[in-house]
Amino acid sequence: MSKDKKAGGLAGVSAGETAICTVGKEGAGLTYRGYDIYDLAEHARFEEVAYLLHYGKLPTQAEYADYIERLKGLRDLPDALKAALETIPGDSHPMDVLRSGCSLLGNFEPEDDHQPQVRVADRLLAAFPSMLLYWWRFHQDGVRIDTVTDDDSVAGHFLHLLHGKAPSDFHRRVLDVSLILYAEHEFNASTFTARVIAATLSDFHSAITGAIGALRGPLHGGANEAAMELIERFDSAAAADEGVRAMLAAKEKIMGFGHRVYTTSDPRNKVIKAFAKQLADERGDTVIYPVSEAIEKVMWDEKKLFPNADFYSASAYHFMGIPTPLFTPIFVCSRTTGWSAHVMEQRANNRLIRPGADYVGPGLQSWTPMAARD
Ligand SMILES: CC(C)(COP(=O)(O)OP(=O)(O)OC[C@H]1O[C@@H](n2cnc3c(N)ncnc32)[C@H](O)[C@@H]1OP(=O)(O)O)[C@@H](O)C(=O)NCCC(=O)NCCS
Repeated sequence: MSKDKKAGGLAGVSAGETAICTVGKEGAGLTYRGYDIYDLAEHARFEEVAYLLHYGKLPTQAEYADYIERLKGLRDLPDALKAALETIPGDSHPMDVLRSGCSLLGNFEPEDDHQPQVRVADRLLAAFPSMLLYWWRFHQDGVRIDTVTDDDSVAGHFLHLLHGKAPSDFHRRVLDVSLILYAEHEFNASTFTARVIAATLSDFHSAITGAIGALRGPLHGGANEAAMELIERFDSAAAADEGVRAMLAAKEKIMGFGHRVYTTSDPRNKVIKAFAKQLADERGDTVIYPVSEAIEKVMWDEKKLFPNADFYSASAYHFMGIPTPLFTPIFVCSRTTGWSAHVMEQRANNRLIRPGADYVGPGLQSWTPMAARD
């Protein structure tokens, strides 16, 4: 390990320029292409944000209508991909399914130099919910679902495929806003992974496949699932208070808290927490939400750590009947827009990303033939 642990992980290091997003910048906060996250969460639909990220501007009414129809037309999957999804074990992690699904789509529909790369971005955006829920429903319910629905939104499409019926307007809107909040976040680990891959002049599907692998870990996107598993361990606020104090005393990390860039709060939390509360009231919940708030209080009192976007997303998804293993895949269904924007930005002004390292290994050794080694 490096002598200075805090210097590791490239903390505080700028790794390049971007015109896509600001995270925690003084006077700007969290913005996508200059638009404040609170304005987007209040006024936009996720597909407008996707268009903004993929095409660089907000769509006009006509462009938006056209975009919705285009995305709807990209929801079906090749038969060969459906067949392959059926062979992936039902107890696989759904993130592994998306990672493989993305990679397979790259075989069935390889990126073609003559097609605009943004078509691949749109195809992945439309296809991720389909591939995830085709596999999920096949193994959970033994049905081969039709992945084409008439829902106008990714959120509606996702909930429709999962539950087999169109969602309420409120649930669709909560998921829609959650997708907006998750869509983009500058040079986070998965986006940086995508850029590193794109910078070698590799193909679009490889960049997104790598990003899914990076997102899967509990220090990144996997935190929303880990947070739900923690919340469900407790049956009361008092038990949560006691349990989390014990975990902190044992130097355990509490998933869904803290952030590499934000120091006092995550702006996305305020929005998703308010929805989690409304959903708790709708469900008549008297355990999950109070337990969540108790964990939040201990973390602030003991560590001055705050919930990040993942913590209350967990209970919000739970209240909408979404199974915990699908939480991080929802992040993929959203963040694919940010990843794609970064792949295109990297390609537009590319240079191989290849940093150096401080060598801390042994000095020059003299060669010993195998027979003479101890
Ligand atoms: C996000 C995260 C990886 C940022 O990490 P980082 O900038 O590398 O910070 P570190 O992991 O070095 O943490 C700094 C200190 O705060 C503590 N800390 C940070 N997050 C913590 C958490 N969630 N629970 C308990 N302690 C935490 C660390 O133990 C460390 O304490 P120390 O200095 O006594 O060793 C980290 O906060 C974390 O692991 N959070 C939980 C996972 C999570 O929610 N990820 C989603 C991020 S959006």
